[in-house]
Amino acid sequence: MTIRPLTITDASIYQTLRLKALKTNPESYLATWETEQNKSTEAFAWEIRYATSSPINGYYGIFLENQLIGYTQLEQLSLPKQQHTAYLFNLYVDPDYRGQGYASKLFDYLSKLAKEKAQVERIFITCNRKNTAAQKLYQKLGFTQYGVKEKSVKWQGEYDDEVEMVKKL
Ligand SMILES: CC(C)(COP(=O)(O)OP(=O)(O)OC[C@H]1O[C@@H](n2cnc3c(N)ncnc32)[C@H](O)[C@@H]1OP(=O)(O)O)[C@@H](O)C(=O)NCCC(=O)NCCS
Repeated sequence: MTIRPLTITDASIYQTLRLKALKTNPESYLATWETEQNKSTEAFAWEIRYATSSPINGYYGIFLENQLIGYTQLEQLSLPKQQHTAYLFNLYVDPDYRGQGYASKLFDYLSKLAKEKAQVERIFITCNRKNTAAQKLYQKLGFTQYGVKEKSVKWQGEYDDEVEMVKKL
């Protein structure tokens, strides 16, 4: 298993897995398959490029023999008074590879990187309140609930709440 940052040359494999994520777990994300399926590979490359900046910001993928099986986005806040804080977004592991510790390994890798390379002290993650599997994962990784954003999601006429969780590194 290899974990490494995604670059624009990974745009096509990222596009494929991102669309699979939106198809298999639409409840987990704020974007939808219906809107993302029309985007070009260049648009996915731009998304990767735009999210990437030194020292740690970007998309990170888990690879098994060159196959991308999971990813997440790490973003350290840029304003001078918030640089001790980072966010993780869009975490996904391909259903064929779940339950084998890959999400945990990706998180361990990124938390070490964030702490050592960018002096990040706290990592936040936001999750749909109904996504109990993800919340169990985050609790196991040491996250605690920080707050609830009521009715922050509206999809197909129904409201959902999001839970914000934090881990001190
Ligand atoms: C959530 C997700 C990333 C977990 O990936 P994973 O590689 O299977 O996670 P891990 O194997 O590292 O799981 C570690 C722990 O998390 C918890 N966990 C993970 N998936 C779980 C599930 N479906 N139900 C209950 N607990 C779960 C367990 O405590 C597990 O430890 P255990 O295997 O010893 O019981 C994956 O299921 C996924 O991509 N889901 C759909 C997208 C999503 O919801 N992303 C999060 C958005 S906030």
